Amino acid sequence: MKKTIASFFISCCVLIQLHAQDQKMNSFINALMSKMTIDEKIGQLNLITPGSDIPTGSVVSSNVEKKIAEGNVGGLFGVIGTEKVKQAQDIAIQKSRLKIPLLFGSDVIHGHKTTFPIPLGISCSWDTALIRFGASVAANEATADGLNWAFSPMVDIARDPRWGRVSEGSGEDPFLGSAIATAMVKGYQGNSLADKNTLLACVKHFALYGAAEGGRDYNSVDMTKMKMYNEYLPPYKAAVDAGVATIMSSFNDIDGVPASGNKWLLTDLLRSQWGFKGMVVSDYTSVGEMVNHRQGDISQVSAQAIKAGLDMDMVTEGFLGTLKKSLQEKKVSISDIDRACRLVLEAKYKLGLFEDPYRYIDPSRAAKEVLSESNRAVARKIARESFVLLKSDYKTLPLKKTTSVALVGPLANDKNNMLGTWAVSGDPQKSIPVLDGMKNVAGAGLKIQYAKGANITDDPNLARQANVFGLRVDIDKRSPDEMLQEALSIAKNADVVIAVVGEASEMSGEAASRSDITLPASEQKLLKALYTTGKPVVVVIMSGRPLVLTGSIEGATAVLQTWHAGIEAGNAIADVLFGDVNPSGKLTMSFPYSVGQIPVYYSQKRTGRPIDPNNKFSTKYLDAPNEALFPFGYGLSYTKFVYSDLKLSSNTLIKGQIIEAEVTLTNNGPFDGAEVVQLYTLDQVRSVTPPEKELKGFQKVILKSGESKKIKFTLSEPMLRFYNADLKYISEPGAFTVMVGGNSKELLLKDIILK
Ligand code: NOJ
Repeated sequence: MKKTIASFFISCCVLIQLHAQDQKMNSFINALMSKMTIDEKIGQLNLITPGSDIPTGSVVSSNVEKKIAEGNVGGLFGVIGTEKVKQAQDIAIQKSRLKIPLLFGSDVIHGHKTTFPIPLGISCSWDTALIRFGASVAANEATADGLNWAFSPMVDIARDPRWGRVSEGSGEDPFLGSAIATAMVKGYQGNSLADKNTLLACVKHFALYGAAEGGRDYNSVDMTKMKMYNEYLPPYKAAVDAGVATIMSSFNDIDGVPASGNKWLLTDLLRSQWGFKGMVVSDYTSVGEMVNHRQGDISQVSAQAIKAGLDMDMVTEGFLGTLKKSLQEKKVSISDIDRACRLVLEAKYKLGLFEDPYRYIDPSRAAKEVLSESNRAVARKIARESFVLLKSDYKTLPLKKTTSVALVGPLANDKNNMLGTWAVSGDPQKSIPVLDGMKNVAGAGLKIQYAKGANITDDPNLARQANVFGLRVDIDKRSPDEMLQEALSIAKNADVVIAVVGEASEMSGEAASRSDITLPASEQKLLKALYTTGKPVVVVIMSGRPLVLTGSIEGATAVLQTWHAGIEAGNAIADVLFGDVNPSGKLTMSFPYSVGQIPVYYSQKRTGRPIDPNNKFSTKYLDAPNEALFPFGYGLSYTKFVYSDLKLSSNTLIKGQIIEAEVTLTNNGPFDGAEVVQLYTLDQVRSVTPPEKELKGFQKVILKSGESKKIKFTLSEPMLRFYNADLKYISEPGAFTVMVGGNSKELLLKDIILK
């Protein structure tokens, strides 16, 4: 009782304090806005980029300095490093009439200069504490480098691996996606935005960007509201609930209206239903692109966007160029402009920029924090947690440090592709390739020979497109056959072959959709030739997406999926290959059996004609299975985990009460290891057709060799809720199946009744 009163008292004090802070902020901003002209208010809504080494879109803003001095800019992105940031902030503070500081944003997507693995890889750790910590390290480094706004996390549910941007998100599942969204927002924003090592997070791309038709980037999206609410919106909502400060609207349309001008999305859902209080920024030129969406001319679409609830216009400069006239013509109101301006100013206020516009510009901090040894150690740790062992003969791996290795493949001694897509501040030359990593980790006892063996691709058209930001696909001067013979000759003299193949970093990411996601033919040829040597072949796959591996890995003794693993890629891969770390990643996106199966994801619904090999008229392909090659949640270990004895504390779940599910997990193999234990449910009868399985919980558990542990999950009625046909979030009494296991396919089952 005493405890309850005490915590009630503390909550009241916190609320009073927050209210006082809000009041202070409001009076500051009221006073400032009372001095602002219409032009200055509209200027705050303008986010532009002077361009950087790696452009993130095709339009680059002009006359940036003049615009800042005239009060026509609210923030910049693509300006990296304290020196450049200071130059720009100086103009705002010394030359603009009201001296309003600028925001400095950047695509801090997987780390800043210390590049972590691509987000899809990070998600495969299923370790939300580590993910949160990683985001806080990225925030610390980015703020030390002058930034105060990260365009991350990207939480778009993605079920079509042809879409290149699956690399940037957390895969196919809304429950896991929500947990990761929460972790990242909390990691970036910390306890207070006013701290010097935290920054504004920006959840994106609101909304449904991952559902582009055919997996083709920027394509239309069309889905029912019920699917949105149940499957696609939860991670954005989780980010809002976690207090995310900003949101980026997406390029696609939703229900026929582009997201950046969609009032239902940006106001009715986001602000009225979800209670979002922060600022909404458009994606790169997405306001202007509404013209292409056939929504009207630039002044019409700009007016539509601000009225819909968009606050800041990234790069189009449609707000800057047209809103004043639209105001005079009464097409927008002063309250629309005031709302947007206030939200931009509030973001700056919360960062503490009005107290000190230079608070994130501290070269001594930059020198200490950027690319520090400790940040690199975090990158290495995250990387080795993100790898997924797809196949193992349980003999070849882990390797002995004294073994003789033929290291082969176009990605085996390659710095250019380790960072992966969206590493705008990363320097590929600072990354560790696998060859160096293996030498570093194994030391002098290792006998290692290297041969490139093949080009990433021999296709000059694909190579040209992958090389837009610098050399990624280096087509060798030697003929493919010459390279292959070299690889085969070193393979013949080795105990084991390690073949490192996959995609170049820019073969995934934005504007990098592919219709054929098998391994490139050049690499397939290399692998098949290596299999004929009779040596054990370990295939290490670097990619930004799940690839179709059918036909490429059958001859391998082991397959390790490493994604693009970041600045410490080579060291982390070697840590795992030599067994210093036992792999424990689990897939967060299904690996299709074939391209024609896409989309394939674990939570599909049962049809009226479930698959039956003996019934022609059942749902199936004539030439491929229905199931993924490797399902969601799947991943092996050097050790073997066995699940047994699923027990429930009761077969009946009563609203307001809980039941416990308990399973015994045993490490039956020779190594210590970590396992992600997963809980799924199925609603056996539902007013609207349910997914066959829905993830409802997970725990990452560490077990010593030979150890057994009882793992417990709590089940409660709210976990069984869903949005029904009236978009009401309810549960329906009746029978459910509870499933526990190490992936979405191999599960122990028990039934319960919800009363
Ligand atoms: C376009 C991308 O869609 C978005 O994710 C990114 O944050 C912006 N460009 C800025 O670079």
